[in-house]
Amino acid sequence: MRLVTERLILRPWQDKDRSPMARIYGDAHVSRFFPKVMTVEETNLDIDLEIERAGTNGFHFGAAELRGSGETVGMIGLDVLSETVQAAIPSHPCVEIRWVLAKEHWGKGLAPEGARAWLDYAWSIGLPEVVARTAKENAPSRRVMRKIGMIHDPAGDHENPEISEGHWLRSRVVYRKLNPTFL
Ligand SMILES: CC(C)(COP(=O)(O)OP(=O)(O)OC[C@H]1O[C@@H](n2cnc3c(N)ncnc32)[C@H](O)[C@@H]1OP(=O)(O)O)[C@@H](O)C(=O)NCCC(=O)NCCS
Repeated sequence: MRLVTERLILRPWQDKDRSPMARIYGDAHVSRFFPKVMTVEETNLDIDLEIERAGTNGFHFGAAELRGSGETVGMIGLDVLSETVQAAIPSHPCVEIRWVLAKEHWGKGLAPEGARAWLDYAWSIGLPEVVARTAKENAPSRRVMRKIGMIHDPAGDHENPEISEGHWLRSRVVYRKLNPTFL
């Protein structure tokens, strides 16, 4: 699985991505809307899990590399929602899109660029719908969702069962986009 956009290569994880991703996930500002700032070990486990999920599902939250320099700038991709999260959202969506970039690359439109390529891929394999979820307060991520044509579905907003009760990040907003070839 390799997608190429004007500025990015979206591809499976390689060992060379581990150290830049540990820096990105270990950055408290980048991770301010995540339940925790991940350690190097947790980042490695996360990458291992995504490699496994690519094998199972044919897609995953994958690596984003800058064309030209080859720099690993973050993660953009698709993954299957856990059954508990699917159950928490009334429309029971199956697949979500997600992104995380190193902060020196924010504000250049890289996340929407990569996300559009992943959405095209999703439609090409016949997925009926892709959702995106984030904390209510995550304005930059919500902005990316709107830029790629996703629509906020207030009926899907939910308490994330994977985050402990009372945690300020438990409330999630849901944005949806339907496969345009089915419309
Ligand atoms: C969400 C994220 C991937 C956006 O990527 P991006 O490539 O910067 O996206 P864009 O360039 O399209 O910018 C989106 C919005 O972010 C905001 N933004 C841009 N630069 C910013 C900066 N330096 N600081 C804070 N917000 C910024 C702007 O509101 C921008 O919208 P605009 O283009 O209309 O002004 C990036 O902010 C990020 O990695 N955040 C931390 C991880 C995260 O929260 N991921 C989402 C998990 S659901």
